[in-house]
Amino acid sequence: MTDPKKYILAIESSCDDTSAAVLCNAKVLSNVVATQEIHKQYGGVVPELASRAHQQNIVPVVHQALAKANIDKKELSAIAFTRGPGLMGSLLVGTSFAKSLALGLDIPLIEVNHMEAHILAHFIEEESMSQPQFPFLAMTISGGHTQIVKVSDPFTMEVLGETLDDAVGEAFDKSAKLMGLPYPGGPLVDKYAKLGNPFAYDFPKPKVEELNFSFSGLKTSILYFLQKQTKVNPDFIAQNINDICASVQHTILEILMEKLELAVEQTGITQVAIGGGVAANSGIRSRLKEAEETKGWKTYIPKFEFCTDNAAMIGIVGYLKYKRGDFTQQNVAAKARYAIGS
Ligand code: KG4
Ligand code: ZN
Repeated sequence: MTDPKKYILAIESSCDDTSAAVLCNAKVLSNVVATQEIHKQYGGVVPELASRAHQQNIVPVVHQALAKANIDKKELSAIAFTRGPGLMGSLLVGTSFAKSLALGLDIPLIEVNHMEAHILAHFIEEESMSQPQFPFLAMTISGGHTQIVKVSDPFTMEVLGETLDDAVGEAFDKSAKLMGLPYPGGPLVDKYAKLGNPFAYDFPKPKVEELNFSFSGLKTSILYFLQKQTKVNPDFIAQNINDICASVQHTILEILMEKLELAVEQTGITQVAIGGGVAANSGIRSRLKEAEETKGWKTYIPKFEFCTDNAAMIGIVGYLKYKRGDFTQQNVAAKARYAIGS
């Protein structure tokens, strides 16, 4: 028997992307993302500017999502929104909008944890994606997060390890900034790394216990390395950009893969799923594919548009919660710090 058709409007505004999506059950009908370009000139996200841009974008983005899905707002079954974690000013815009619209349409409101959504994005029904079997390990890697999570079922998740300082995307972006590359530098490091030698320069890997991560030391060692080299040769960076990027990326990937291997060893789980913007990195993608051959893992990477911050992933959690009747009261408040499973 097929499930009755439910239409969920989902809203994501946790950082610097304003996004709205419409899902019909687990299928995505539209997924509109307005990326805020304003932050580029500052070399990183400016929270105050992010919330203002969300306020400008939210109504047009929701209109576009409904129009693209060809759904009238009266047909909606529920509104799902990101309650946290994220930037408070940004979260407030999406939260207030979702609450008002749900109240106005007299339909259920569903709160979603952004980090759980990055993981459950794997359950969006999409031809190019296959779904992990429970239990599986999920590594969320982005500009705001770095976590390894044991997922026993959609609503039972345990964080096994996380970063103690910078997120892995920040490590990419900050290293890129030191090389004079524009924000966000991650994709550029990936691009240049393809042309360089990953063993040209050696950067130390941090010693962090268990399944936790640390990336701030790497940034400092890159800074000292570049300062030392450019003193001798002012054109060092320009002349060696490919090798520097390849070596930096290699170090970051070694850190990620070592922890993932340890997590597999400790849990005995060989189903490994990744998500978040850094999942777009060509290096991590080939390392995971390699692990399928050499270690017998089964690996999962969502379609790119569901890796970076997007409302479709909020919508899939909204749908799963809708089926359980897991609704949210109108007195809900946004939560900047919001641990998985809490
Ligand atoms: O998930 P996302 O869009 O937003 C956050 O929640 O942070 O991730 C953005 C991050 C940025 O740090 C960006 O540099 C990084 O993902 N990123 C990459 C690549 N594409 C995006 N990092 C390395 N290689 C890439 N190809
Ligand atoms: Zn995110």
